[in-house]
Amino acid sequence: MLEAVSETKIVLPESELPTRWYNIASDMPNRPQPVLHPGTGEPVGPDDLAPLFPMELILQEVSTEAEVAIPEEVLEIYKLWRPTPLYRAGRLERAIGTKSRIFYKYEGVSPAGSHKPNTAVAQAFYNKAEGRTRLSTETGAGQWGSALAFACKLVGLECKVYMVKVSYEQKPFRRSLMHVWGSEVVASPSDETESGRKVLAEHPDSPGSLGIAISEAVEDAAGREDTAYSLGSVLNHVLLHQTVIGQEAFKQMELAGAFPDVVIGCVGGGSNFAGLAFPFLREKIAGREIDVLACEPAACPTLTRGPFAYDFGDTVGLTPLVPMHTLGHDFVPAPIHSGGLRYHGVAPLISQLVLDGMIRAEAYLQHDVFTSAVEFASAEGIVPAPESAHAIHGAIGAAHQADEAGEQKTILFNLSGHGHFDMAAYDSFFAGKLEDVALDEAEIERALKAIAGLPQTV
Ligand SMILES: Cc1ncc(COP(=O)(O)O)c(C=O)c1O
Repeated sequence: MLEAVSETKIVLPESELPTRWYNIASDMPNRPQPVLHPGTGEPVGPDDLAPLFPMELILQEVSTEAEVAIPEEVLEIYKLWRPTPLYRAGRLERAIGTKSRIFYKYEGVSPAGSHKPNTAVAQAFYNKAEGRTRLSTETGAGQWGSALAFACKLVGLECKVYMVKVSYEQKPFRRSLMHVWGSEVVASPSDETESGRKVLAEHPDSPGSLGIAISEAVEDAAGREDTAYSLGSVLNHVLLHQTVIGQEAFKQMELAGAFPDVVIGCVGGGSNFAGLAFPFLREKIAGREIDVLACEPAACPTLTRGPFAYDFGDTVGLTPLVPMHTLGHDFVPAPIHSGGLRYHGVAPLISQLVLDGMIRAEAYLQHDVFTSAVEFASAEGIVPAPESAHAIHGAIGAAHQADEAGEQKTILFNLSGHGHFDMAAYDSFFAGKLEDVALDEAEIERALKAIAGLPQTV
């Protein structure tokens, strides 16, 4: 029998807020291969990145120190919503009839409604400290754009957001939120950049993708002295900033007298997954047995079906070459409702850990994901973001598997955000209008042609 946990909600006082981020690069069995300059094929150096990022973030990107101190100013803003609660999902356990215990860390309590402000605030802070006055970025579902808009407003920077067109149309209130925090928002592909105009010339009806929006935002920043580029996922420093999630969860699980057998998160670029999982993977690398599961959409099955290869981070090819699981940089995923999971690549740190067998991945159809989302909302009350619902679906699946095997597991997942701006997606689900998109092999082969000829990983 698993021990009973009496608290529904395990909360930490502000004094327990982590004061350092955890850098998994210090513990990995194999560090990621270097990021390459596309022109020379050589590893990129700080000077190559300086036009786009402040030096402190570039140093964090290549750091192998185990911990990085969180600046006081960042901690002060974190305290507006951190530490976030850890819940024991007892009502969900009863609803699905499992003998396993399910816990979730809830990041939807941040002002923007997701985990994204954990890095947005840090990035805005370092940019301001090094004299930038404006940031440009892309956003998929609008979660990252609104997080950066919030951070820029509090820190005192201007912000321009290129929002993937399909989300710009599906989620008008995310746009409004960014306006409340004073940011400028345009639908991507836009006619405001070379990259956007190039895509529009070839595909006037393009629904957009994160890859295209990144091209536009990078071009914007590269063309202006006052502007830096800010990315909401994928990069090492972004994943680093998110580790406050897992460090808090670690303490909260201890308070609950439990340790997870299974740790689960959804993966777009990988930041919320890494944020929860990396502090637990530290234990796994040290020899503790933990099943670490990454959940992705079948419409964008980067970890489950994409090869590990060098590829561009954006569609047009403006970024360095990154060693990662990828579906090819010109892959435009179907317009599923989890806009934040529609990215062709996954963070190099996560890709390497998948390659090394430390993390496994599963891909789900969106109808199944929404079924789990509604099951969760019916039991626990919180309406999850469609992205986060992939982790819920993974957790319910893990509980069922344990029951079938006659086992009792302790399952922990990251509920990365609420779905209050995603109600049109729920309406489509209830109206039976959600399309299930699983890619056929021919489409994957076509998309992968984009990486033929790029340097090979070793
Ligand atoms: C709520 C939520 N969860 C997850 C993601 C996926 O991003 P990542 O993989 O970087 O956590 C997003 C991205 O927009 C999101 O908004």
